[in-house]
Amino acid sequence: MPKKRVSILYEIWWPEEPDEKASPPGMIFDPKLGEKRDAPPDVHEEVFSALTRLGFAPQFSILEGDKQSLLRFVRRGTSLVFNLTESYAGDDTKDFHVAALLELIGVPFTGSDARALHLGQDKILAKKLLVHQGIPTPAFFAVEPGQRRLPRALAFPLIVKPSREDGSIGIDTGSVVRDEGSLRKRIRFVHETFEGPALVEQFVEGRELYAAIVGNDPPEALPLVELDLSRVPPGVPRIAGTEVKWWTSSAIYRATPPVYPKGLSRALTRKVQAVALAAYRALGLRDYGRVDVRLSNDGTPYVLEVNPNPWLSSGCEFFMAWQKKGRSYDALIARLVELALARAR
Ligand SMILES: Nc1ncnc2c1ncn2[C@@H]1O[C@H](COP(=O)(O)OP(=O)(O)O)[C@@H](O)[C@H]1O
Ligand SMILES: [Mg+2]
Repeated sequence: MPKKRVSILYEIWWPEEPDEKASPPGMIFDPKLGEKRDAPPDVHEEVFSALTRLGFAPQFSILEGDKQSLLRFVRRGTSLVFNLTESYAGDDTKDFHVAALLELIGVPFTGSDARALHLGQDKILAKKLLVHQGIPTPAFFAVEPGQRRLPRALAFPLIVKPSREDGSIGIDTGSVVRDEGSLRKRIRFVHETFEGPALVEQFVEGRELYAAIVGNDPPEALPLVELDLSRVPPGVPRIAGTEVKWWTSSAIYRATPPVYPKGLSRALTRKVQAVALAAYRALGLRDYGRVDVRLSNDGTPYVLEVNPNPWLSSGCEFFMAWQKKGRSYDALIARLVELALARAR
């Protein structure tokens, strides 16, 4: 029997000119402009090797951000897409358009559908849905570009974020503000640099937990992973900002490893997992997802965001969670393919 063909779909994109505006004061490196533009260098290769070992015939399908590569992909046809797309033509908000195209041409694909990808990306819309379902998420307000009046409802400290970015883009120590002047300044920075409204949230002190989820009927919560922020120097906000997530050679990156949480009771672990599962369902995710949670000091798991199709490299938090029960990378890739094939049948 011929091997089943699987197209590994991902994007490449090189920005032309660095955009001066994109770097906040004091930052020497801006992932929005470079590294984050294409899929991390080796995820597609890891998935390719795993699929080969699993007996499939994988091939790369690369979207280059132009019409030709889209047409080539559509014409070539395939029986299954392993969808690693995170953006299109340098635009991180266009991953759901790619999923929508797959839906239109009727090819089964791994991961969430266009609707869930859209909800996962629009943090404000997602939070409204979470609130509606009684799922805890930090209190917030949105500020549209050009809006001058700010609601008075929330007490400092607050955190200001772009509403439609990902991977800590636009989030650094300057995001956490303690007075009105810095709040307005940071909102202005977000408006000048990113599209859409600024999201202003109550800053939640506490542990940073990632809840990975796999599957559909029913989805399964995997063991929790914590980003250990306990060694962040005093006076510096304990957040997973750009430095912590991407500056691999920095002291702060090395001081904040992902770990399996210690001293978290079984009851609290279950509570975090239950909230994460509720959030996964509320936004209609499928196959796999990662819910970012801040566990406040009073034991409330606040959902910061819900990530459909989280990063799948063997070095990431999602795989750490999967691996905790002794399961291999190949088993994870096989599971995701199985879930997509089950939908196709
Ligand atoms: N309300 C908040 N309270 C405390 N920390 C926060 C809050 N919102 C975000 N953070 C910190 O910023 C990081 C990135 O925020 P997140 O909303 O997950 O954006 P991204 O999509 O860039 O990952 C979080 O992992 C967390 O460390
Ligand atoms: Mg996050």
